[in-house]
Amino acid sequence: MNHFDYIDGVLHAEGIAIPKLADKVGTPFFCYSTATLERHYRVYADAFTGLDATVCYALKANSNQAVIKTLARLGAGADVVSVGEMRRALRAGVPPSKLIFSGVGKADAEMREALEADIAQINVESVPELEELNRVALDMGKKARIALRINPHVDAKTHEKIATGKAENKFGIDWTRAIEIYRQAAKMDGIEITGIAMHIGSQLTDLSPFREAFTRLAGLVEQLRAEGIDIRNLDLGGGLGIAYQGETPPLPDAYGQMVRETVGHLGCHITLEPGRLIVGNAGILVSRVMYVKDGEAKRFVILDAAMNDLIRPTLYNAYHEIIAVDQPGKDDKIALVDVVGPVCETGDTFGKDRPLPDAIKPGDLVAICSAGAYGAVMSSTYNTRALAPEVLVREDQFAVIRPRQSIDELIALDRIPDWME
Ligand code: LLP
Repeated sequence: MNHFDYIDGVLHAEGIAIPKLADKVGTPFFCYSTATLERHYRVYADAFTGLDATVCYALKANSNQAVIKTLARLGAGADVVSVGEMRRALRAGVPPSKLIFSGVGKADAEMREALEADIAQINVESVPELEELNRVALDMGKKARIALRINPHVDAKTHEKIATGKAENKFGIDWTRAIEIYRQAAKMDGIEITGIAMHIGSQLTDLSPFREAFTRLAGLVEQLRAEGIDIRNLDLGGGLGIAYQGETPPLPDAYGQMVRETVGHLGCHITLEPGRLIVGNAGILVSRVMYVKDGEAKRFVILDAAMNDLIRPTLYNAYHEIIAVDQPGKDDKIALVDVVGPVCETGDTFGKDRPLPDAIKPGDLVAICSAGAYGAVMSSTYNTRALAPEVLVREDQFAVIRPRQSIDELIALDRIPDWME
């Protein structure tokens, strides 16, 4: 459920009419709803009531400080994958004790900063990384609290670019070698083993791959304990999907139940790393129609937003619903149109054969839905298009939480070598 609804025929974010925001900040812009963020966080966190669990929001989905702070105030921790994300989380008020550093390759400087900040756990993904972390920790006179991220060789049955738990994926340590590498880690003086981690992929719409992976994880924990290696924290990753196009992903409650059934008996602290589920449907990308072009084969609705703002459709063939901000009337004729951006690539297409009002015209606003996760964070300045602003709504208030970048700011990042002066 989200809080983007038509009120008197006009799309609103909570109590604010989208056209009012468009007038204030210009288009395109991302718009997030506080009530939706809070609701998604609560529904997810409530699914683990009674378990010793921490929800560490995966910042990569949307790392605006205002979004992080909204969640941190509800008790969320953070899952970060770079020192940049770690600084964002700390500055937004996430306590180090609820911070997990994941990712397939951490630089020395990142390890140092994480150890300095005394975060809860660093998830290690290979033997060379483990050895490096051991060296860095010893050099600093510290012990690094770690989990090994295990690749369980389970097919998450999601888009190939966001599946992470198969043998051919670059992530984690093969589960078949886990015990041997834990034994190695247990001998390292700069390493303190605290947990075991897993993340099998993103946008999963079925519980069975999770069930298979967590069952494998539970087996490993029992084997490790039999060897005298105590595992206190299970990091189960994120990955629970959302509805983009009428999918019916399992509800957080069902996911929570499956977690209880597979790993509940181990008596471990559980860390969860949801990203998309919290923010995906809490955000839209608002754009203005620039032109309507009737081609021989198609009608094209050309927006002022483009693939640089939201890369998901072209990168993953992802479906994002596109709706008119002015609600079509019951008797209004609907046409099937291709909704495209102005960037010079055929891939700059948000959707093909989409139903929009036949009378849609330049100046009208549309909302590209489900753009809260992996939207603004993946945007670029391709075609020297400035980054779009982000707006956070709370009831009848709104705030610009990232202003529009100016084109001059963007160009000013370049430097001309002396020899050209
Ligand atoms: N934890 C780890 C270690 C991850 O790698 C990820 C996502 C998450 C948690 C959060 O997963 P979520 O709950 O959001 O599914 N850009 C892609 C998604 C990439 C996900 C990468 N890892 C997209 O737009 O679909």
